[in-house]
Amino acid sequence: MAEPAKVAVFISGTGSNMAALLYASRLPDAPYRLVLVASNDPDAPGLALAEAEGIATFALSHKGMTRSDHEQHMEQAARAAGADYIVLAGYMRVLTPETVQRWAGRMLNIHPSLLPLYPGLDTHARAIAAGDEYAGATVHLVTEDLDAGEVLGQVKVAVTTGDTPETLAKRVLIAEHQLYPRVLGEYVSRGNDPQHLFERVRDLALALPESHERTSHGSPGFRVGSEKSGKFFAHFSDRHHGVDHIAVLVKTGSMDELENLVETQPQAYYKPAYYGASGWIGLILNRPGLEWDHVAEWLERSWRHSAPPRLTRLMDAAEDF
Ligand code: GRF
Repeated sequence: MAEPAKVAVFISGTGSNMAALLYASRLPDAPYRLVLVASNDPDAPGLALAEAEGIATFALSHKGMTRSDHEQHMEQAARAAGADYIVLAGYMRVLTPETVQRWAGRMLNIHPSLLPLYPGLDTHARAIAAGDEYAGATVHLVTEDLDAGEVLGQVKVAVTTGDTPETLAKRVLIAEHQLYPRVLGEYVSRGNDPQHLFERVRDLALALPESHERTSHGSPGFRVGSEKSGKFFAHFSDRHHGVDHIAVLVKTGSMDELENLVETQPQAYYKPAYYGASGWIGLILNRPGLEWDHVAEWLERSWRHSAPPRLTRLMDAAEDF
């Protein structure tokens, strides 16, 4: 199993979501562990709990500090703790776009409504006033726009007759505690999940002109050209022939290039069985630091290698545009 991902949790208050994340991380095979609990309120009850459980803590009041100064200290504490992810759990400060961008794709939040319904505050009162049948909670990626990043998971909570914002909030919180550890666990495991990796590759491959999916020797691949006479430009490989790699195989320009990449960057490339002999290289996908832009560039290059000239000309024209 891969090393658990390192997570810093930012809280402002009770920290019950942080506690749910913490105890889930102590169960067998948990895909993440907490390396820090940080708060903008030194009296936040969640800090004492984290300390009692042996988790490093950091507290710095935001009072009298600029938003960006305060945030830099919080962020620095997360970095110093080695965090791969920052997870907001009842953190009541809006973060600056700079910080959010630095942690793009690595910062999550939980919000007590079924987003896109009711971003912001007073979510339960608003759901009750609207006569909604369900309230709920959402885990989402943090982007510059408040409560608007990609939704990673949701759970519905029935609104009952006579519910007040307080009674509803209590049940939603129970649901939050189930949702957050599950969604965070899935999210940090994505990089080792063949299904997820395949879907990313497929999206990139099928975005190239006249490409289609076709199985080859039992593995999915992608071809360019007509259904009849198309040529393969990518093969997806999930731990074939005794290697640990989940990879996409693409065409290199020459055997020299292939051998050179494999020798100088063995963490990123390998020479696959059979295919390697005819110039296909394996781009390793289940590794830390993978950049999808880089995968996209390779797919395009390999596509160009196999595409008929009428299509590459079209692509050139589009790129010059
Ligand atoms: C939760 O309802 C969460 O959705 C919201 O703030 C509350 C935090 O509660 N963002 P806790 O501190 O995790 O107990």
